Amino acid sequence: MAAVFAACATEPTLKEAYKNNFLIGVAVNTNQIFEHDQRGVPIIKSQFNSLSPENVLKWGPIHPHPGPDGYNFGPADRYVEFGESNHMTLVGHTLVWHSQTPQWVFLADDGTNTVDRDTLLQRMHDHIQTVVGRYRGRIKYWDVVNEALAEDGTLRKSRWLKIIGEDYIAKAFEYAHEADPNAVLRYNDFSLENPLKRNGAVELVKKLQAQGVPIHAVGLQCHAKLDWPTAEQESDTIDAFAKLGLKVAITELDIDTSASSQQNRSADISLNGQDQTNAVKPAAQLGINLNTNRLPDSVQQVLAQRYAELFGAFLKHRDAVTLVTFWGVTDGDSWLNRGRRNHPLLFDRNGQPKPAFDAVIKAAEEFHGSK
Ligand code: G3I
Repeated sequence: MAAVFAACATEPTLKEAYKNNFLIGVAVNTNQIFEHDQRGVPIIKSQFNSLSPENVLKWGPIHPHPGPDGYNFGPADRYVEFGESNHMTLVGHTLVWHSQTPQWVFLADDGTNTVDRDTLLQRMHDHIQTVVGRYRGRIKYWDVVNEALAEDGTLRKSRWLKIIGEDYIAKAFEYAHEADPNAVLRYNDFSLENPLKRNGAVELVKKLQAQGVPIHAVGLQCHAKLDWPTAEQESDTIDAFAKLGLKVAITELDIDTSASSQQNRSADISLNGQDQTNAVKPAAQLGINLNTNRLPDSVQQVLAQRYAELFGAFLKHRDAVTLVTFWGVTDGDSWLNRGRRNHPLLFDRNGQPKPAFDAVIKAAEEFHGSK
């Protein structure tokens, strides 16, 4: 227990260091929501002032079966209770997404044919009204539509698009606003730092705004690599959306340290990164060996520098940035542990702060000139 106490008794904590800039959040899994994870929970409670649900509020986990009796609210209810009891600002992730949506949603009642537009819109409406309505006034930020764009900036050819048409996005935001008029509604996506995709998102937002659709913010997932996006790319991207009058959230921050995926720009685990416009220096050019289960000190320092750069960009745009959320508590919790061990976050597998943690704290202190 002493080791766990030491891990979360840092001075200052992340939320303290950034309290005059933006909220610092973290994605939490089921073990943490139910407080079974005795390593992660003290870190969550001491370091963060916002939570995102890694999975429990996605359509599949919360609405696995058709109809009003097909919901499974237990884990999501516990997520909200855990957040409220620890005075956290809560995010809802996510309402409409091409992934983790059960097959029944897209099937007609005969269980075979594809559902028609009106029926699918009704299902979307009922889901959003039920879920957003249940947590009205308790969940402040909603990722209403997640990853609607392809890497070239055109609309992803999801079943939502194919069956309903382009207006599925506008409808989702309207239904969410109807269910909770005070919620902050976000469009959330990855790799928006890539100019093609960013331009596609900017045009999408402009079109929604022209239709009077209630979109309030954009979520930059920022699943980063050891040399992408640069601070300048991040800064330009935040600026592009702030100019539209949107607030900006960094919604799923991590920095992949594995050699095999440095070229992959996509956070869609079903894609092989399509976008190579930002030629990435091979790991060798970084002078580091990434193919190890242990993170060499040289990579710890590269990781720390990368986090410092990105937080420099977030601080530069602190008027637009409302929240920075890490996509996991410790390295052992990360979705990036696929095959080889990854080391993408601020706390290691023992719950100890890494040099990257110190670099993030230092970025705030230097920005405010207190060090
Ligand atoms: O809960 C079930 C469990 O009952 C079952 O035994 C187990 C094995 O099948 O699966 C468990 O569900 C898994 C779930 O994570 C909880 O661990 C799903 O299979 C698995 O697909 C799911 O992965 C999540 C992934 O989204 C789904 O695409 C990751 O945890 C999550 O970090 C990741 O997060 C996404 C964001 O939501 C959107 N942006 C990209 C990001 C990374 O892909």
